[in-house]
This record gives sequence, C-alpha cells and structure tokens, in this order.
Amino acid sequence: MGEVTQQRLLRTGIPVDGNQLIDFGSGIAVVSVGNAAPRVVEAVQRQVADFTHTCFMITPYEEYVAVAEALNDLTPGSFAKRSALFNSGAEAVENAVKIARSYTGRAAIVAFDHAYHGRTNLTMSLTAKNMPYKHRFGPFAGEIYRVPMAYPFRWPTGPEQCADEAFAAFVDDVHTQVGEANTAAVIVEPIQGEGGFVVPAPGFLSRVAQWCAEQGILFIADEIQTGFCRTGDWFACSHEGIEPDLITTAKGIAGGLPLAGVTGRAEIMDAVHVGGLGGTYGGNPVACAAALAAIETMRVDDLVGAARRIESIMKPRLTALAEKYEVIGDVRGRGAMLAVELVVGAGDRTPNPVLTAAISSACHRDGLITLTAGTYGNVLRFLPPLVIGEALLSEGLDILDAAFAATA
Ligand SMILES: Cc1ncc(COP(=O)(O)O)c(C=O)c1O
Repeated sequence: MGEVTQQRLLRTGIPVDGNQLIDFGSGIAVVSVGNAAPRVVEAVQRQVADFTHTCFMITPYEEYVAVAEALNDLTPGSFAKRSALFNSGAEAVENAVKIARSYTGRAAIVAFDHAYHGRTNLTMSLTAKNMPYKHRFGPFAGEIYRVPMAYPFRWPTGPEQCADEAFAAFVDDVHTQVGEANTAAVIVEPIQGEGGFVVPAPGFLSRVAQWCAEQGILFIADEIQTGFCRTGDWFACSHEGIEPDLITTAKGIAGGLPLAGVTGRAEIMDAVHVGGLGGTYGGNPVACAAALAAIETMRVDDLVGAARRIESIMKPRLTALAEKYEVIGDVRGRGAMLAVELVVGAGDRTPNPVLTAAISSACHRDGLITLTAGTYGNVLRFLPPLVIGEALLSEGLDILDAAFAATA
C-alpha cells in the first residue's frame, strides 16, 4: 500500500481503493468527534466564508470569547476562571509555565517520570523520554526537576504500596532537591499519554494536588490527551475530584483543527502583565468555530457516555486477551483511552518492544490502526474516535486478537 493511499485511508471504516482501515488512533486522540464531523464541517465552511484571521490581539472576535467561556465552564472547578488560546499543545504548556512563574515569582517546575509535554525546547525538557524526543536536541531548559510517577504495574514494591511510596518520594524530592519556596508548579498528565497510558495509583494525584495547595505550588494538569470526553469524563482530573490551578488542552478540542488552551484560576491568569501572552494565530477563528461545533457535538451526542460505553466493550475484551496471551502484563486506562503493556512472559515484566511493534504492524496490515507508546516502547494504546460504532469496534478487536494469535 503506497504512502499516499495510506494517507487517504485515515477514515473510520470508509473503504477507499478496496481497502478499509479501522481507526483506533484518532490522529493521536484528536478526532474524537470523527474526522469529518458534520457540525465541524459546517462551522468551518461558514467561518472560512466569513473571515479567516484578524489576530485576536488586534481585532477580537466572538468565536474566541465563546471558546474561552466554554473552557471556563467545562473544566473542573467552580471558581472564577480565564482562558487563553494558542496553536498547539506544546505552546499551551509553554504558556502555562510562563503563567505559573509569573504568578508565583518562583522558577522551578516539577515534572514526572514517563511524562510527555511536547517537543519545543521547554516542553521537550519537561518530557521524560530521551529517544526519540530529546536525543541530540539539548541543551535543555533549566529549572526543571523530575520526580517518580506512581506507576502501579512497575512500582518496585508492588501496586498496593505505590500511591503511598510515590507520594512520599515526591514530597521528599521536592523538599530536598528543589525547595517548596522555589517551586512554581507541578505539571502532570492525569493519565500519562506517550509515557504508556499510565494511570497513577488511586489517591496519588489528589494527595499531590492537596500538598501543592498547602505549599503555594500551582498544580498544572496537562489534559491535552485526556481532555474533552476521552476518558469518560470531560476531563480526567474529575476522576480524582481534582480542581487544578491551570489546565492545558488541545487535541480533541477542535475536531482536527489546530487549537490549544490554558484555563486557570482568574487571579493566576490575571497576574500576567498585558501583552505577556499571545501570538499571531492563537485562537484562530476557523479553529474556534470548529471547537464550538466539536464541543456541541460532545454535549448533544453525549460523548462522555460514548467513551464509557467504549470502555465497557473494550476493557473486558482486552482483559480476556490478557488471560489468553501471557505477554500482556497489564490492561489499563479509562474510557476510550485504553492500553495493554507487553512483557516477555508470565512472571517476567521485562518490556517487550519488539513484539509490540510486530503486533502493531500486523494490525495495520490487516486493517486496524493502533499506536504504540511507553517509555520502553512496549505499550499498545487504543484511542478510537468516540463516535465509532460497536460493530467496527468489535471488528477492530477481532483483528487485534488475530494479530496476537499470529505473532505472540
Ligand atoms: C499530554 C500532552 N501534552 C502535550 C502534548 C503536545 O501537544 P502538541 O503535539 O499539540 O504540541 C501532547 C501531544 O501528544 C500530549 O499528549
């Protein structure tokens, strides 16, 4: 299959040239509403015919304000909020760090093992994994400190101890190596994305958030991959009842158009001097029109419920696969953000990236797009569009099963 043909095939179950690919990737968690969602298509066409750009900082427009209001309304926390819009996830994270430093007057940012926050210099510095994200791209930004993640499957003393011990290590590291009074913010993905869909041990994140609040350290939730219904709630922080000081969003927000946001407590967002945040294209009107239509689709079509339904179908199937194939060491995730971690065999948790790549290729060959992830490259992650039908979902899982049968 030629590369061009493959590009043309990235549609959920639409046959082209006699081929069919089922999409369990959504363009890396972007086209949650589908890749030509009718409301998004209509809104984009209408907006393009109206105007394509003014630069919001020069001539403000209603669509930007409406997206900011929607973000203020939908994100966790009933306090007063403000939102600013940008072009990409990495740009949102960069700005969240700027805002946190400006508000607190502190420089240090604490990030976690297995974190992924982007590929610009600052966000690459926050990202944990060397290859391919950081290798030969240094020097990296300063004042970034890394702490252990409460990763139940790989916690040395076992999953039961994970939350307590990881929290103790986090507090100790920040106290001894950084200093609470020097720390502007802790940034964390409520479920880690590129790092392997690591769901932090229950209770870990809420304790981190509580401790941060006690120290005057801001808690930044990077919801770029987890946000907008993906995990079976509007935002993954809600699963632990966390109300972050700042939240970054992108990916699923605009049905495939480039848009990102930082939403935060009003007093924090307002602390930045006038003109300190911005950019030529941030909050582009066409992307904003797409976002409003995507958000309406999520609301009207109940894509929170859809993500939960996907989990209720996929999780038992993945668990059954894990019983059948001992190379599946762990099944995890929430909503339509699910993964399996592949190991060498039962009782041996050595990561198995070679098999992971082979199974992903076999799936692709047989008509299913899956993505790999994980610090050790041994995680198969599944991010189907939230509008996927049950028949297609089930067919995709059959292809996955067959790929394990043939490869594992
Ligand atoms: C959690 C998280 N943060 C930040 C980013 C960077 O977003 P972008 O690729 O839009 O710059 C990503 C992208 O995968 C992500 O998953």
